Amino acid sequence: MKTPALQRYNAGQRSNHWAVVTCFVLAAVSGLALFHPALFWLTALVGGPQWARILHPYLGIAMFLLFLGMFFMFVGANIWRKEDSEWLGQAGKLISEGNGAKMPAAGRYNAGQKFVFWVFTLCLIVLLVTGLMFWQAWFAASVAIPLQRVAVVLHALAAFILVLAVIVHAYAAIWVKGTIGAMVRGTVSAAWAKHHHPLWYRDQVQASKK
Ligand code: HEM
Repeated sequence: MKTPALQRYNAGQRSNHWAVVTCFVLAAVSGLALFHPALFWLTALVGGPQWARILHPYLGIAMFLLFLGMFFMFVGANIWRKEDSEWLGQAGKLISEGNGAKMPAAGRYNAGQKFVFWVFTLCLIVLLVTGLMFWQAWFAASVAIPLQRVAVVLHALAAFILVLAVIVHAYAAIWVKGTIGAMVRGTVSAAWAKHHHPLWYRDQVQASKK
C-alpha cells in the first residue's frame, strides 16, 4: 500500500546536489585523463587535452564551492552522536543480512551517511588546498617544488578516496529502495522514513501536528 509522502529535500537543495554531481563527474573524467597516459582518451569527453587541462581546476573549484552550500545546509544533521558509533559497529551485520530493522534507530541520516559526508568534506578540502599548490597557471610558481610533489601525491590520494566514497554513496542510494526519489522528486514515503530514519520520521510527524 502506498503511504503519504514526506518532503526530504526542496528544489534548491536538489539542484545544488545534482550540480555538485555534474562537477564531480567532469572533474573526475578530466582528472583521470591527466593522471595516467592509459586514460588520456578520456580527454575526448571534455573537448580535448587542452580543455581537460584548463577546465579541471575550475571544475574542482566549482565543485568545492557548490559542496560548501550543501555542507552548511546539512552539517547540523551530520553531527556525530554516540548512537552513531553503535550503528557503525553493527554495519557489518546490515551488509551481510540486509535487515535494517535490527539497526539502532537513526535520525535524518544514519551513521554510514554521516561518515560518508565527513569523508566528502575532508577529501574536498585536501583536493582544493593541494590542487591550488600545483596549479601552474596561478600559484605553482610560489610553491617550492618538493612541496608541490607532496601536494600531487595527496591530491591523487584524496581523489581516490573521494571516488570510492561516491561509489559507496551512489550504491547505497540505489540499493535502499525509495532513496533516489528523495533527491529526484524531493519526497520519500512515510513507510521509508519510518523504516530507515525513525527518529527523523517522529520529528516530522510532531512538526506537522504543530
Ligand atoms: C551519481 C552519484 C550520486 C547519487 C546517485 C546520489 C544520490 C543521493 C541521494 C539519493 C541522496 C539522498 C539520501 C537521503 O536523503 O537519505 C543524496 C544525498 C547527498 N549527497 Fe548524493 N548522490 C551522488 C553523488 C554525490 C556527490 C558526488 C556528492 C558530493 C561530493 C554528494 C553529496 C551528497 C550529500 C552531502 C547528501 C546529503 C546527505 C548527507 O549529508 O549525507 N552526492 N545523494
